[in-house]
Amino acid sequence: MENFALNQFGQLVYQYCGLNYLQNLPSLQTKIAKRLQEMNMSLWNYMQFIENTPKEWDIIVELLTINETYFYREDKQLSVFQEVVLPTLVKEERPIKIWSAACSTGEEPYSLAMTSLDSAVFPLHQIQIVATDINKRVLQIANKGKYSKSSLSFRRIPQRWLQDYFIENETDYTVADHIKERISFQYLNLLDENSMKQQQQFDVIFCRNVLIYFDTETIKKVATSFYHSLKQGGLLFLGHAENISTMGIGFETISTNGTFYYRKG
Ligand SMILES: C[S@@+](CC[C@H](N)C(=O)[O-])C[C@H]1O[C@@H](n2cnc3c(N)ncnc32)[C@H](O)[C@@H]1O
Repeated sequence: MENFALNQFGQLVYQYCGLNYLQNLPSLQTKIAKRLQEMNMSLWNYMQFIENTPKEWDIIVELLTINETYFYREDKQLSVFQEVVLPTLVKEERPIKIWSAACSTGEEPYSLAMTSLDSAVFPLHQIQIVATDINKRVLQIANKGKYSKSSLSFRRIPQRWLQDYFIENETDYTVADHIKERISFQYLNLLDENSMKQQQQFDVIFCRNVLIYFDTETIKKVATSFYHSLKQGGLLFLGHAENISTMGIGFETISTNGTFYYRKG
């Protein structure tokens, strides 16, 4: 594959969804090669095809995104959510709105709902969770809430959660309906400014382990959108390797219990 074409394609991907393959073009080449073969197209022809067929982006996104996730991930943050955040929010005596941005196959938003149930400070019907991702295939899996028993999704899950919050079948566990009902799974590209502007009035946003794939400029853009999507005093949880403290967005950094998160001042 021609390096110049590959670089152009990397630019298109970067502009579309923020994934930054520009420093790693060989990986981009490997990931797209099979699709080009299927389509029997050169990369130049393929780029033209995408321009006329924007739906093709769904397939590209499936090939390029990394969807690794599991239940009860970054448990220190979940403890803070359970022991600090929810007890504070309950004092406001109103329903709360949570956003799991880049939710992949659903383990993160389901873990948030299960943590809320554990905390017992809010009845579940007072919690609304919006869970979004750019990859339509993972959203289908998330919607079903059905995971094979042998899945790595369960590698850190507390045994009690499996008993209390899932229906066990022969080969899999399915999230109980009363938990599924609290979560609305939706397609959303974090780079799409119009869709981001429509996300409003959240109390808490979790966006973990996706900003690591973006460059500084994109991280700042997305984190600024989150700032506008939060209520005053709203909280943002990022992955432990994703730090926006020095970006001057307006968030206050809160460090506690071996983890940190951000508060809209
Ligand atoms: C590694 S997973 C993280 C899942 C979960 N948040 C966690 O921490 O376990 C990253 C997810 O980000 C999604 N993603 C990547 N770029 C995105 C974008 N521009 N908009 C929305 N989601 C995106 C991918 O499809 C993938 O499901």
